[in-house]
Formats: sequence, C-alpha cells, structure tokens
Amino acid sequence: MAIIIKSRREIELMKIAGKVMIGLFDELEKHTKPGISTAELDKIACRYIRSNGAIPACKGYEGFPGNICISVNDTLIHGIPSKKIILKDGDIVSYDCVVFKDGYNVDACRTFPVGNVKEETLHLLETTKRCFFEAVKLIKPGVHLGDISHKIEETATKEGYSLTEDYTGHGIGKEMHEDPYVPNVGEKGSGPILKEGMTLAIEPMVNEGKKDLYTLEDGWTVKTRDGKMCAHYENTIVVTKDGYQILTLKEGEEI
Ligand code: MF3
Ligand code: CO
Repeated sequence: MAIIIKSRREIELMKIAGKVMIGLFDELEKHTKPGISTAELDKIACRYIRSNGAIPACKGYEGFPGNICISVNDTLIHGIPSKKIILKDGDIVSYDCVVFKDGYNVDACRTFPVGNVKEETLHLLETTKRCFFEAVKLIKPGVHLGDISHKIEETATKEGYSLTEDYTGHGIGKEMHEDPYVPNVGEKGSGPILKEGMTLAIEPMVNEGKKDLYTLEDGWTVKTRDGKMCAHYENTIVVTKDGYQILTLKEGEEI
C-alpha cells in the first residue's frame, strides 16, 4: 500500500481529534494516583472521549477489550485495563490512546509516574520523551524516514537503554495503521522519503534493560523478559511544507 497524503481539510479534522487527545491526557493525569485500578482509568478515558463526540478506536480493534491500552512498569504495550491492576506508589503507567473523530484517527501515548518514583526511572521517562522530540525535529520534506528511526535509536542507546524491533510507529489517518512502518531503530538515508501531507504516529518504546519481550496468555499484554521498567511516548504528526506539526501535543509541552 502506498503512503497516503492528506489534504488540508483532512489535517484540520485530525487536529480536532488531536484536541480531544490533549484533554484526555489531562484528565488521565489528574486521576493517576496510587489506589486506582486500570479498569477505572479506562472508564474515565471512555467517558471523556465519548463526551467529546469521539470514539475510543482501540475498543474492539482486532478484539482488544479496553478503550485504551494501559501498561504498568514492565509492560511495554497493549496492557488490558483490569480491576485487578491497581496503581501503587513508585509505579509508572502508560496510556496509549487512539481517538477517532469525524472519520480520522489520532494516536498518542504518555507514560506518567505514580506518586514517588525512583530517580533512575524518571530518567527513563525523560529519555523516552526526548527520543521523540530529538527525532521529530529532523522532519521535513525530503528527509528519509530512516533518519528519524536512527535518531530515536541513538538517543536511547546513548543512555544504555534498548529498543524493540518487533513493534513500530506507523502512518495514520482514516485507518489507525497505514503505511509506512516507523521503526524505532534504523539506518540514516534508508526508507521512504517524507513528503508534505504525510501523517505519522511516532512512538519510541524504550526498555531500561534488554530488548527481549514476551506476550501474556491474554494475547495482548507485552512485557520485558528481564522484568525491567519500560516507557512509551507517542504523538501523531503531519509533515508540513518546511517541517512538521504535532497534532496531539499540548501547547508548551515541546522540549
Ligand atoms: N496505539 C497502538 C498503536 O500504536 C494500538 C493499539 S492496539 C489496540 O498501534 F488494539 F489496542 F488498538
Ligand atoms: Co501507534
């Protein structure tokens, strides 16, 4: 499948969906406290998304049971919200959300600390976010996608962290997953060339320890084999005439 270029109108619609996403993270962050279950957080997310005229697109996607993915500590991605998973002081929790509104999807993820978190874990969160921002700054028409992947890899590995090659970012629009794949590791000068109007979900997934992962018997929950912490940070972006714009970021949050 080819990479779909979006019109100005389509990008405007994705920006509107992005506004819902921005409000959603504020709402989730407010409730990120020891004692709350991930099922409750999922309900809060569903209520927020629907009351803003949008649909939580993860729900039912290939049978996923939650409205959003909620992943704690050594769970990297696709955590299923559960009454049995209760946040506790020192945890980290990622909310990976896809908001669908007026025919278009946006995809974003934040990892938040719960209460008091170890300094070294905060460094993992900060680095994961920095992987995204260092890479996104390279985006403009004519750049190879491999340059973006390479910058994510370089930023994480400099800190001694590792990155999975099994899961990637992706194009996004009418479909949650469109071409191209956006890997978190790669060679400079490789891959497709970016063009104005491409919309991409860029999502560094960073492991404190080794990159090896396994999936629980629920068929979804992806964890680190060594049980070490991992973090995930994601935004949906559009390639513009001379750079990029982030569609799912609160003003002032850029680093
Ligand atoms: N947000 C995830 C992604 O980047 C997706 C979710 S899988 C789902 O692809 F089943 F939860 F939708
Ligand atoms: Co995604």
